[in-house]
Amino acid sequence: MKAARTAALLLILAPVAALAADPTQPEAIARANVMKEVGKNTKILGEMAQGKTAFDAAAAEAAKAALIAAAAAAPAAFEVQGAEDPVSEARPEIWTGWEDFTAKATDLRVAAEGVDTASADGLRTGMATLSGTCKACHSVYRE
Ligand code: HEC
Repeated sequence: MKAARTAALLLILAPVAALAADPTQPEAIARANVMKEVGKNTKILGEMAQGKTAFDAAAAEAAKAALIAAAAAAPAAFEVQGAEDPVSEARPEIWTGWEDFTAKATDLRVAAEGVDTASADGLRTGMATLSGTCKACHSVYRE
């Protein structure tokens, strides 16, 4: 009984631990929120592309629009470095390599704009290009 209760408690605590890792500095919160939006909508498109969720052209189009908006919002959200935030994953190279960083944000927006939401096949092709732009930026600018 006790072991089962402990296991249940651990399951409840796991998401709390994940939340505790969120940044506390306002600038870091703002940029993390933009990236969360990017992540959320990429996941929606990716799961549809993989057939994990049923293809839904309207939902795909909505996720694409949200992704484009988040990509467009990224440069402004990252512009001010702000105070050091211990859990922020943003590398200081963002602000020393600002032009390259914003060019990579533009690559993300352009890739998102290019996603064909008319079919699951279109999504699969678009997601391949899109995920390349995530990696290109994260490998240089994210801890
Ligand atoms: C222009 C650069 C850039 C591009 C392009 C980019 N990211 Fe990020 N991403 C970052 C940086 C930098 C961070 C760390 C931000 C921080 O911790 O302050 C990050 C963080 C994240 C996070 C963590 C957010 C959190 O704190 O919970 C997710 C999820 C994420 N990115 C998803 C994506 C996905 C998916 C793509 C591609 C579709 C993508 N990103 C494209 C720069 C980028």
